[in-house]
Amino acid sequence: MSDDKSPRPAAQQPTAEVSEAQIAVHWPEEAYFPPPPQFIAQANLTDPDIFARFSLDKFPECFKEFADLLDWYKYWETTLDTSNPPFWRWFVGGRINACYNCVDRHLPKYRNKTAIHFVPEPEHEAVHHLTYQELYVRVNELAALLRDFCGLKAGDRVTLHMPMVAELPVTMLACARLGVIHSQVFSGFSGKACGDRIADSESRVLITMDAYYRGGKLLDHKEKADIAVDEAAKAGHQVDKVLIWQRHPGQYSSATTPVEGRDVLLNERLRQYRGQRVAPVSLPAEAPLFLMYTSGTTGRPKGCQHSVGGYLAYVAWTSKNIQDIHPEDVYWCMADIGWITGHSYIVYGPLALAASSVVYEGVPTHPDPGRPWRIAEELDVNIFHTSPTAIRALRRDGPDEPTKYHHHFKHMTTVGEPIEPEVWKWYHKVVGKGAAVIVDTWWQTETGGFLCSTVPGIHPMKPGSAGPAIPGIHPVIYDDEGQELPSGSGMAGNICIRNPWPGAFQTIWKDPERYVRQYYSRYCRDPQSKDWRDWPYLAGDGAMQAADGYYRILGRIDDVINVAGHRLGTKEIESAALLVPEVVEAAVVPVSDDVKGKVPDLYVSLKPGLVPSAAIADKVAAAVVDEIGAIARPRRVVVVPDMPKTRSGKIMRRVLAAISNGQDPGDVSTLANPEIVGSIRDLAK
Ligand code: WT7
Repeated sequence: MSDDKSPRPAAQQPTAEVSEAQIAVHWPEEAYFPPPPQFIAQANLTDPDIFARFSLDKFPECFKEFADLLDWYKYWETTLDTSNPPFWRWFVGGRINACYNCVDRHLPKYRNKTAIHFVPEPEHEAVHHLTYQELYVRVNELAALLRDFCGLKAGDRVTLHMPMVAELPVTMLACARLGVIHSQVFSGFSGKACGDRIADSESRVLITMDAYYRGGKLLDHKEKADIAVDEAAKAGHQVDKVLIWQRHPGQYSSATTPVEGRDVLLNERLRQYRGQRVAPVSLPAEAPLFLMYTSGTTGRPKGCQHSVGGYLAYVAWTSKNIQDIHPEDVYWCMADIGWITGHSYIVYGPLALAASSVVYEGVPTHPDPGRPWRIAEELDVNIFHTSPTAIRALRRDGPDEPTKYHHHFKHMTTVGEPIEPEVWKWYHKVVGKGAAVIVDTWWQTETGGFLCSTVPGIHPMKPGSAGPAIPGIHPVIYDDEGQELPSGSGMAGNICIRNPWPGAFQTIWKDPERYVRQYYSRYCRDPQSKDWRDWPYLAGDGAMQAADGYYRILGRIDDVINVAGHRLGTKEIESAALLVPEVVEAAVVPVSDDVKGKVPDLYVSLKPGLVPSAAIADKVAAAVVDEIGAIARPRRVVVVPDMPKTRSGKIMRRVLAAISNGQDPGDVSTLANPEIVGSIRDLAK
């Protein structure tokens, strides 16, 4: 495809005044890279007939192959129940337990095999190799404590606010064993953000850790738990117990004082449960396994609810066939378990397949950008999985570092944001030494697992494109008027999935209406219809499909910014800014960044009579960090005399985005206050 046919920017949602897609970077189509023959020779999936087996006329029965990777207490009767669209129910009648599938069933063959390699950030601390047997013991003891000391039972929610330590998968699996719904909040989120999620999920128990290492420092983490509990109380929700893991067992590494009657040091209390075993609870396939909060178009994050049966089947199958995980592989996904990537592709997928999964505590470039390659060399990691942001940072800080180590990857993954062909090629040539296959996987918190990616043993790779849909996924791209764009047209539009799939989230916790409205109403052909064909899933991304069937994801079509592969709602950041008493208006726009993909710029205007100052700007930035976490810290806060506005008073974010990105804001003559644009541009210099 030549440059002149390069995709048009994706059309806007009526609600969004500027979309990321509009300012997305477009690159020309690249040449193919064939997968290495050594990879194909050992790959789990090389049969191209797979796509015929998963064609739409085989739907939904084709997904039996996914479910059959799991052990069921009772085999399911109905593959897919569509009687209440769009609330799809998979593998109905089946009974299953996720913890059993990730731990117990591996013991006869693999009890002495490492399940989790925990790599502490400080390099002098030894790597802890947790075997499947040890995982089994620790999960059982914790499950006994959660059941008998905390009184937790199937269906209860528990919030986890834990860093990247082996105790995090142990805790998730202990919950899963009991059918307790875990809601892990990314440790980088603030105490307040955690508190909101505790209140929304009505968790009576919060599980945290006293401290963890990041960037060479031991960070006090328990202090966030105290804030979280207060915040939840403000929202009218009481937390009864805070369970605290110790980063260094036997010592308490937080400046906070444990609260009498509420706080419990887990490592001590667990001694009373030594040797206890808890039978895994047999759950209906559609029982919820966990909640994962993610940002949307409103100020409130939404709890995406994932099921035990469908979700686990989906992540197991995609881990086996797209990640190409075999039980003997050492697999390292450098994401954080606090995001969906870590749930699906550090914990549930790899452990369901009895692989060894690496959990690394800290910053990839600490103490130097050779760290990941040392870890890979030492543990003999052969599958590596990370984000474009991490790849860009490692390339910037240590472009030749990978050549100094003897690691060898057969497979590498990139996820979370578009990857520039230049960066892809460095990943391939330098990190992968030209010998690894790469998959660029497109998916979302809501989708549970991959949607688009090459099948690594079948398709050639194309830098900068995610690849075709994976088997069983049937995308369609619509324009704003609801017309299907011809497949392979190269035209940009709104990507949807035609069919339900087992990994899809079940609903938004306590907000089923929002679930229907946000994901299924836009292109629904008939709200009364009981036919799944009338209910395409709206992903919220702009995309185009090239003539070869590969998709390129252009970015969000809604008010969501993808910062370093993590989703932030512009409304969440704006609401935080508005908490500062001096501020009357706030507008966030995405700015292209060499490392993080996108970062937020925050424009604020002040109450009449107030004089802009650096102090106010700092206060606004601090409010954002306080409410959400450091990940949302604006690149800069620009205090402006007024926002550019339409005659009806709407803030023109498009104009601000153009200024922040050094682009021409275009014709502004129709604004109510066109003269403001010049002064904002001067301020934003
Ligand atoms: C959004 C989902 C996928 C799990 C981690 C992020 C963007 C995701 C890609 C990719 C281009 C991508 C989309 C999507 N995205 N993967 N391979 N190429 N963009 O999960 O926080 O739910 O974010 O990330 O915009 O909608 P998430």
